[in-house]
Amino acid sequence: MNDTGDRPGPWWRRTGLDVVEGRLRFAGHDAEAIAREHGTPLYVYDPDRLAVNVGRLQAAFDRAQLRHRIHYALKANRLPAFLARLRSLGTVGIDACSPQEVTLALGAGWKPEDISFTGTNLSERDLNVILAQPVILNLDSLSAIRRVGRRAPGRAIGLRVNPQVGTGYSAQLTYAGEKPTKFGIYADRFDEALSLARDCGLEVQGLHFHIGSGWLRAGLDTFLEAVMRGAELARRVPGLRYFNIGGGLGIPLQASDQGVDLDAYAQGIALYLGPLRIAIFAEPGDFLVKDAAILLTEVVTVEDKGGTRFVGVDCGSNAFNLPAVYHFHQEIVLCRAADAPPAMSCTVAGHINEAGDVFAENCRLANVREGDVLAFLGAGGYGASMASYHCARPPARELVLE
Ligand SMILES: Cc1ncc(COP(=O)(O)O)c(C=O)c1O
Repeated sequence: MNDTGDRPGPWWRRTGLDVVEGRLRFAGHDAEAIAREHGTPLYVYDPDRLAVNVGRLQAAFDRAQLRHRIHYALKANRLPAFLARLRSLGTVGIDACSPQEVTLALGAGWKPEDISFTGTNLSERDLNVILAQPVILNLDSLSAIRRVGRRAPGRAIGLRVNPQVGTGYSAQLTYAGEKPTKFGIYADRFDEALSLARDCGLEVQGLHFHIGSGWLRAGLDTFLEAVMRGAELARRVPGLRYFNIGGGLGIPLQASDQGVDLDAYAQGIALYLGPLRIAIFAEPGDFLVKDAAILLTEVVTVEDKGGTRFVGVDCGSNAFNLPAVYHFHQEIVLCRAADAPPAMSCTVAGHINEAGDVFAENCRLANVREGDVLAFLGAGGYGASMASYHCARPPARELVLE
């Protein structure tokens, strides 16, 4: 999955993310120059990278001879330029999880039948919007089956199941496993769900799961165990048309991370689900957009406090909260000296009045000065889409590179 090849220099170097004469270049542009021209904090997006990532995944599915369709998980990033690029590819549907995302996808030009909806704890108000459209609808509770059955008998549905095995970047991002989560129908109630759907006049056409987010190479075996369990359930549903394997593929965030081998992923899915001869849907978010953006921020303070060197930046966890909330490792690069050896260890913190407003601890950087520009790599997924106005600080601005 890592397409860095054998390039010398920092581990993250790849086509489109490079170091030229020591300076960081993103999609062919000097990163610091972008920051000086447009201001910080600033998300900088490269839609070409999104298209490349779609192609990498589709090629692996094709090599495994899987009849497949990717549904981009809209929650990862709603940037209009990303949606336009995906639309232009013509082969990618949408995964929506709220009525608002359905409306957004329709407005961006997707047809209802190209939108796969999987929500949780749906209200009647939610159903008013969702049932008005012939979207692919995956229900994740018996309650939802009962209520949809009452309102839309005859409707085709899918069932979100919980295979009770999961993997993710961290416990917080693991959606199935030993500890019960709210997601999906568990094996002990699967037959009850099928007969309830039948009694309500609903036709079960698909199964779905999403077992966690941000998992890497080490998570593949667990993912495939879930696929195997899913295949066992699928065999019990007559007339099944699709299996949706969710999203969750992570990308390396630091030198020691190993990305998922996409061929092993696709071939493992083919091994268990191929014999069923049904369509395979996948709904990645992060994998497609995470490395299609960087976040640029200016250093406003460099100061030692209590034995720790703090590098304070003009960005906060309101604009980018993955490190603070999910404890993701954040790779940070000094734009003017992107391949300089580390000269100090520091804590990179933001401008929000919260002790947890921290982007990286024990971060090894070249000698950073006030006024420098830093780039947070891999900022394209769940950054802007989860931003808030905490402390009345506005979210970061966004720039799309041509
Ligand atoms: C049901 C479902 N599908 C897909 C995704 C996308 O996950 P990721 O961005 O990790 O690929 C999520 C993320 O939470 C999800 O809940």
